[in-house]
Amino acid sequence: MRTVQITRFGTPDVLQVSEVEPPVPTAGEVLVRVAGTTFNNVDAAIRSGVMTGLIPVELPYTPGLEVSGTVEGTGERVIAFLGVPVGGGAAEFAAVPRELLVPAPRSVPLADAAVLPVAGLTAHQGLFEHGGLRAGQRVLVNGAGGGVGGFAVQLAKRAGAHVIATASARSRAAVQARGADEVIDYTTTALADALTEPVDLLFNNVSGDPADLSRLTDLVRDGGTAVSAPPLPLTDDEAREVHWKVLYVRNDTAQLSDLVKAVDAGELVLDVSDRRPLADLAAVHADGEAGRFRGRVVVTL
Ligand SMILES: NC(=O)c1ccc[n+]([C@@H]2O[C@H](COP(=O)([O-])OP(=O)(O)OC[C@H]3O[C@@H](n4cnc5c(N)ncnc54)[C@H](OP(=O)(O)O)[C@@H]3O)[C@@H](O)[C@H]2O)c1
Repeated sequence: MRTVQITRFGTPDVLQVSEVEPPVPTAGEVLVRVAGTTFNNVDAAIRSGVMTGLIPVELPYTPGLEVSGTVEGTGERVIAFLGVPVGGGAAEFAAVPRELLVPAPRSVPLADAAVLPVAGLTAHQGLFEHGGLRAGQRVLVNGAGGGVGGFAVQLAKRAGAHVIATASARSRAAVQARGADEVIDYTTTALADALTEPVDLLFNNVSGDPADLSRLTDLVRDGGTAVSAPPLPLTDDEAREVHWKVLYVRNDTAQLSDLVKAVDAGELVLDVSDRRPLADLAAVHADGEAGRFRGRVVVTL
């Protein structure tokens, strides 16, 4: 089968297409014929080798933290979050523990459904598990043009929150269409100038200078919450009891099933901005690292 592997850490050109034997599922696993996988920022960190200090990555390594596809033999349409740094999605076939499988949404192309697990779960867990968001609250989604932010806007709106989102011109229309009540262009406007009153929850999806991002707590009401998806060393505002919670997405098939239901109910839109073939994976990494993507990009098999 065709796959992309890395045999050493480095720049995107270490991602090489190769022919290998399909994986042989062990007890509890099934063979999934992959339709789609994705690029997440953490894929670049794994590929470059900077993750290895935190989490061991065994070589050869096949990227692809999430997949959509069909189970060989039964034809079930499924999606799965394979785990960090487990991967294995960037291949024609992946051996996936059956317990990770969730029925894929029926209302969208199967390959596109690969964008749901990581970004959808991160958005859900960031807003509700870490952020405790409730109806009627004000939430600021910083970085709403990306994969996680796009879902966060929709889930927050669906939960009855007032949603303020940051996006540049290229993402403004999409973020508005997803339900943001206010969109602030971060390239032209200082957030502090645009916000009329503090928010109950700040959900940060932007990686950057921790000192700058820490100051976003100024936008949160006393005792409010700040959640960051990028795991950065952020500073709390102790005096006003605004504390950062750093999020590490965890797999949860029940939550993922609920997200699938929301997609099929037309309540959650997958913001797929591009579809690229597996052979393009090195270029996808280079584009992703250069910030050339908005929404989510699907890698198709
Ligand atoms: N800890 C975890 O478990 C976990 C899980 C998932 C993701 N993450 C992290 O969370 C972050 C978001 O993930 P993602 O997949 O959504 O990223 P993404 O899709 O790569 O986000 C890209 C978007 O970021 C926006 N952006 C860039 N700089 C910005 C700025 N200064 N202000 C506002 N928006 C800005 C751009 O929006 P425009 O198009 O509007 O310019 C772009 O569309 C990443 O750092 C990722 O590594 C962490």
